[in-house]
Amino acid sequence: MRTKTIAGNWKMNKDSDESVQLIIALKAKSPGFSKDVRVIVCPPFTSLALAKQLFEGTDVAVGAQNMHHEDEGAFTGEISAKMLTSVGCRYVILGHSERRQFFGETNESVNRKAKKALQSGLIPIICVGETLEEREKGITEQVISAQVKGVLNGLAAAEVEKSIVAYEPVWAIGTGKNATPQQAEDVHRFIRKLIGQMYSWPVAEKVVIQYGGSVKPENAAALLRQPDIDGALVGGACLKSEAFNQIIQAANPA
Ligand code: PGA
Repeated sequence: MRTKTIAGNWKMNKDSDESVQLIIALKAKSPGFSKDVRVIVCPPFTSLALAKQLFEGTDVAVGAQNMHHEDEGAFTGEISAKMLTSVGCRYVILGHSERRQFFGETNESVNRKAKKALQSGLIPIICVGETLEEREKGITEQVISAQVKGVLNGLAAAEVEKSIVAYEPVWAIGTGKNATPQQAEDVHRFIRKLIGQMYSWPVAEKVVIQYGGSVKPENAAALLRQPDIDGALVGGACLKSEAFNQIIQAANPA
């Protein structure tokens, strides 16, 4: 049984004071979160330590939005896995389409980061997704297949089992235009079958596959009801505590 997993990706939003406000508002709602839903908050690097401190005593976990694959060294502006774990991070988003589009990330670089994250005790939330052009050309499955094979390359079954894959169609991110539940389910099923072929069906059945792209309180329940949609990676709607809370409630299996 896969745990429904809701992660909030704050992207480059919220300075320190604004972060405190949002975290306090979310924390006030956290007694109402179901124990059966895993909640992860991914603020910018500058707010990770305070998020960890403020969420102390709740079940809300903290994640980062990126990391470097090396342990340390002359990599100006970068953050290592060890730095993330040292402030209490348990998760890290890797290969978000904005990182791929604006910062040159590739399946290979995401794969290196995923390996380091797992070796360091972090659970990677690994993002894949096709562009509108690729969908319209009818090559969604080819694109997703190349991405999944690329980012998981060389990972052991035990590592894949505990990783999270986020299917985020690029055309649905920040556009207000979500994939329909059926469109999303079809790709989630495809990803699960692919992991089944690459590893084994028991491994595929354990992998949590989140959907991301314009998830809102209004569409969350219909998406999360699909058999292979195990959670959501939420951008815009996670910046409002009430909207994020409603999405968490929509994930409640009870
Ligand atoms: P969105 O972003 O919910 O604002 O579409 C999702 C994401 O980029 O993870």
